Amino acid sequence: GDNVLYLAHRYEVEMEGACEASLACTTCHVYVHGDYLEKLPEADEKEDDLLDMAPFLKENSRLGCQII
Ligand code: FES
Repeated sequence: GDNVLYLAHRYEVEMEGACEASLACTTCHVYVHGDYLEKLPEADEKEDDLLDMAPFLKENSRLGCQII
């Protein structure tokens, strides 16, 4: 799908996604710019659970592969 991880790869932006968007890692952790944060659908429970394990968690943290 056209999630952020996929788009990053398409435009040759370095971004990890160890589990290929299956919500089993935190390597695709990104910080979303405030202007965009409120436009995104909220993270679901599974994404939130994983984010809790991500290093350097911030208010605007999301998992890139879940941002569509
Ligand atoms: Fe693993 Fe996003 S690539 S959760």
